[in-house]
Amino acid sequence: MRMVDLIEKKRNGTALNKEEMRFIIEGYTNNEIPDYQMSAWAMAVYFQGMKDEESAALTNAIVHSGETIDLADIQGTKVDKHSTGGVGDTTTLVLAPLVASVGVPVAKMSGRGLGHTGGTIDKLESIPGFSVEITNDTFIELVNRNKLAVIGQTANLTPADKKLYSLRDVTATVNSIPLIASSIMSKKLASGADAIVLDVKTGSGAFMKELSEAKQLAEVMVKIGNDLGRKTSAVISDMSQPLGYAIGNALEVKEAIDTLKGKGPSDLTELCLTLGSHMVVLAGKAKDHDEAKVLLTRAIEDGSALEKLRVFAESQNGDASVIEDPDKLPKAAYTYEVQADTDGFVSGIVADKIGTAAMILGAGRATKSSEIDLAVGLVLHKKMGDRVRKGDTLVTVHSNQKEVDDCKARILESYKIAEEEVSAPPLIYDVVEK
Ligand code: URA
Ligand code: CA
Repeated sequence: MRMVDLIEKKRNGTALNKEEMRFIIEGYTNNEIPDYQMSAWAMAVYFQGMKDEESAALTNAIVHSGETIDLADIQGTKVDKHSTGGVGDTTTLVLAPLVASVGVPVAKMSGRGLGHTGGTIDKLESIPGFSVEITNDTFIELVNRNKLAVIGQTANLTPADKKLYSLRDVTATVNSIPLIASSIMSKKLASGADAIVLDVKTGSGAFMKELSEAKQLAEVMVKIGNDLGRKTSAVISDMSQPLGYAIGNALEVKEAIDTLKGKGPSDLTELCLTLGSHMVVLAGKAKDHDEAKVLLTRAIEDGSALEKLRVFAESQNGDASVIEDPDKLPKAAYTYEVQADTDGFVSGIVADKIGTAAMILGAGRATKSSEIDLAVGLVLHKKMGDRVRKGDTLVTVHSNQKEVDDCKARILESYKIAEEEVSAPPLIYDVVEK
């Protein structure tokens, strides 16, 4: 096989088969296929798209470019959740203990990554002492005992994806649905879950700004997962404004605790119940989503979801007393209020702009080596559809710096205030199942 022939074939719109896909991905991972040929191929894919079987074959080839995690020693159907990314997305912190509390095993391997706030691991580390540096044996033992554990990324997962993603970034080929779908799904499949629930975001703060694109991405990912033997479903949810009120690591942990107590923001609560009900159904713990929602709602009401968070934190060396007393979480030295400069109705909160406002306080990493400040971030007081009067507080800034003018300016820029009454956007647009 020669790469030049496969580029030509793809350029002309002919589908590639499994062997050809494996040849490309193996060759690229081993540095036998150079970046310039891979770039040409990625651009051909960008224009020609892929058939569903090709997307599955590509994903499978990427999965096998590195190590894969074997969770066979964990009893039950292990269900993972993936979000295509948003701002102040506190769902994992709520969902993991919530679904574990109704008996669904959650075995999560997480990384740190870049973003507006830290990743799940950073957020969990705002619980003093909490550690993800556990051995594989401890990890498996904890999931079997508690139904929940989180471990830091140790294995060399999907090296082909790392290489290809960097290449796509500089060759204008990121925005291709089959390439995005295979990139995301390869990582989920390599980390060993039996079933996967995808939260595909759409709106100004999402990767997929248009609902139609988000739906297409969800359909391709659901197809890939099921074709490769993992039960997969997707929920398409709104990211035209941040989810919940808190954006920042310790602030989101507090928001997650509130939500597990039944006192969280309504959008975050509803999204967690929806995603959670899909996880519970895929794990075979309820016959339909309504029954699953009843189980999950009861787990919040009777305290078992919160108790699961306490046991989880304690088992990984965390100071679980923060759950009763969230004042013990890291706290910023200063708070500032950002006030509305006009009367009207909130018609938009540009999520990526407000995310950047949180990041420059230190809530997230701009580069891999940036230090994160777990205490800082933003708490929103107004969301889309809310009436505001000039002088009302829109956002409280939690900062360890005295100078927050740049951050405040970005917050004001992100808030769109209209004269006419506007309604809040829907939270869930669609569901994609096999
Ligand atoms: N996220 C990923 O992991 N891969 C993509 O290609 C795009 C978003
Ligand atoms: Ca939030």
